[in-house]
Amino acid sequence: MCGIVGIAGTRDVAPIIVEALKRLEYRGYDSAGVATLVDGKIERRRAPGKLNNLEAVLRKTPLSGHTGIGHTRWATHGAPTEANAHPHASARVAIVHNGIIENFRELREELTAKGHKFQSETDSETAAHLVTDYMDQGLAPAEAAKKAVARLIGAYSIAMIFKDHEGLLVGARKGPPLAVGYGDTEAYLGSDAFALAPFTNRVAYLLDGDVAVIEGAQASIFDDQGRPANREIKITSASTAMVDKAGHSHFMAKEIHEQPEVISHTLAHYLDPAGPVVRRHGVGLRKTLAKASRLTISACGTAYYAGMVGKYWFEKLGRLAVEIDVASELRYRNPVYPENGAALFVSQSGETADTLAALRDAKAKGQTTIAVVNVAESSIAREADIVLPTYAGPEIGVASTKAFTCQLAALASFAIAAGVARGNLSESDEKTLCASLLETPRHIAEFFKQEPAVKAVAEEIAKARDVLYMGRGASYPLALEGALKLKEISYIHAEGYAAGEMKHGPIALIDEAVPIIVLAPHDVHFEKTISNMQEVMARGGKVLLISDSDGIAKAGKVWAHIEVPKTNAFITPLLYAIPVQLLAYYAAIAKGTDVDQPRNLAKSVTVE
Ligand code: M6R
Repeated sequence: MCGIVGIAGTRDVAPIIVEALKRLEYRGYDSAGVATLVDGKIERRRAPGKLNNLEAVLRKTPLSGHTGIGHTRWATHGAPTEANAHPHASARVAIVHNGIIENFRELREELTAKGHKFQSETDSETAAHLVTDYMDQGLAPAEAAKKAVARLIGAYSIAMIFKDHEGLLVGARKGPPLAVGYGDTEAYLGSDAFALAPFTNRVAYLLDGDVAVIEGAQASIFDDQGRPANREIKITSASTAMVDKAGHSHFMAKEIHEQPEVISHTLAHYLDPAGPVVRRHGVGLRKTLAKASRLTISACGTAYYAGMVGKYWFEKLGRLAVEIDVASELRYRNPVYPENGAALFVSQSGETADTLAALRDAKAKGQTTIAVVNVAESSIAREADIVLPTYAGPEIGVASTKAFTCQLAALASFAIAAGVARGNLSESDEKTLCASLLETPRHIAEFFKQEPAVKAVAEEIAKARDVLYMGRGASYPLALEGALKLKEISYIHAEGYAAGEMKHGPIALIDEAVPIIVLAPHDVHFEKTISNMQEVMARGGKVLLISDSDGIAKAGKVWAHIEVPKTNAFITPLLYAIPVQLLAYYAAIAKGTDVDQPRNLAKSVTVE
C-alpha cells in the first residue's frame, strides 16, 4: 500500500522521481521520501504528510544524482513521522519497501546483537540492515540483496540503491506488484505501469520471488531459485497524462459526475443495444455459467457491497446458489468449495491483497475464477481464468464511486447472461432487463438535477454524530455502502442495516439526534420497508427517505426526502448509489475534511 519508484538514469532523477510518486500517491500519502547517490554517497530527503511537503523540502535543499529511489507511504509499522519515512538507509544501502515483513522482530534482534543501530520503528529498515550485513560479509550488492530477501517472510516489493555503485538498482517482489521499465538509456522500477508511463511504455512485471538487477539501462531478472528468468516485456496502454479534476473541486465530484458516461462504456462492452441482448462473449464463460453448481463471491469494502448486490441478481435471475464473504475472511476460512464451482472476485484496483489471496485459494481448490476488475494489467486480472472488465477509467478519489456503479453494470449484465445460460430467462425477459439496464445512464443524468436538494439535506446530516442507513433486498447492500461512504470521507459514525433487523437491536439507538436514511425503491419490498420506517419514526427517528415519486407519495410525511427517477426495480441499485455518494460528498464538504485523501486510508490496499 505504498508506492515505490527507482531510476537508474542519465540525468538528475530526484525531480522525476517526485513526478512519478505523484502518480502513485493513491497508494498512500502519510509521508514521502527520495534517496539518490551523490558522488557515490547516499543522500536522502524525507517529509511527513503528503508529497507537497517533500517537494517543499527539495526546493529548500535540492538533491542531485542520477541513480535514485522514491517512496510514498501508507504506514503499517510506526507513525507517519519523518524518521519512519522511506527510504531507510544504512551507510551502504537505501531501500524503499511496500508490504509487511512479518519476521522483522527476529531479524532486528539478530542484527542489533551484531551492532546494527536502527533509527526507525519500521519493519522496512530491517531489510536495509540485513543487506548491509551481507555486504559487510564480503558479498557484492546484488548477491547481498538476493540473500537478504530470501530471508524475508511476508509480502514485499522493494527497490534498493547502494553506496559507490552508480547506476545499480535492485528490485524484489513477493506479493505487491513491481514492474521493470525499459528505456533507451535508462531503466526503472515502479509499483505500476502508470507510474512509469512518462518514462517508458515497455514494462515487465516481476513474478513472486523474482529479483531484478538493473545496471544502467540493462535489467537482469532472476527467479525464486536464483536462475536467470525471462519476463515478457509488454507495451502498456497506461496513459502518460495525469488525470485532472476537469473543473470539479475534487476528484470524487468529478468521478460521481462521470458515471453516466463510464456506465455506458461498461454496458457497451456487455450489451448489444440492437437486441437488446447480452453479447455472447467467450464460450468458456457461458459454459461456466450454465454448469456452475455454486458461485462464491468475494471482495473488500465497496467492491464487496457490489458483490452483495450481485448475489441478489444471480440468485433471482440465474437461480444460481451464491455464497459471499469478505476476502479477508474467505482466504483463511478454508471454505468448502463444490465441484464445478465458480468463484467471482470484484476489485477496482485489481491489487487488493486479500482479494488476490482469496482468488488464488479458490483457484487452487478447483474453482473457475472470474474477476470483475477496473485495471486491465492488474494482478487479479492477470491471474483470473475469466476477466470481466469495467471501464470506469482511473479512479483517483479514495472513496470508490464510479468503479462501484461500473462493477454493478458488469455484474448485472453477467447475471442476465447467467439467467439465459441456465435457461431461467426467456428471450423477452432478456430484452426487458437489457433495455432497463441501458436506460441507467440517462436516469442518472436526470437525477443530477436533484443535486442542490441533496446538498441541502447533506448539510443537515453533517451536524449528526451518528447516522443509520437501512434497506431491504438489493437496497440492503446499498445501505451498507452508504454508511461506508459517509464514514470514510466525513468521519461521521454511520451503520447500514437490513431494514428488518432494526427491531432486533439497532432501534435502541434511535432518538431525534440520529438521522435514518431509508432506501426504499417502490418495489416488492416497499411496503415492508415503510413499516420498518414507521417503527423508527414512532420512536422519534428523523427519516430521510430516498425513493421515487410513487414511493414518496405513499410513504407519508417524513423529515426529508430525495426523489429518484422511477425505473424497473432491477436497476435501482445503480441509481440509488448516486444520492448515497452525493450525501457523503456534501456532508464531508460541510465538515471540511479531505474528501479525496481521507485520513488513515489509501486507494490501493496491497497489505492484508
Ligand atoms: O481496489 P478494490 O476495489 O479491491 O478496493 C477494495 C476496497 O479497499 C475499496 O472499495 C474501499 O472500501 C473504498 N475506499 C471504499 O470507498
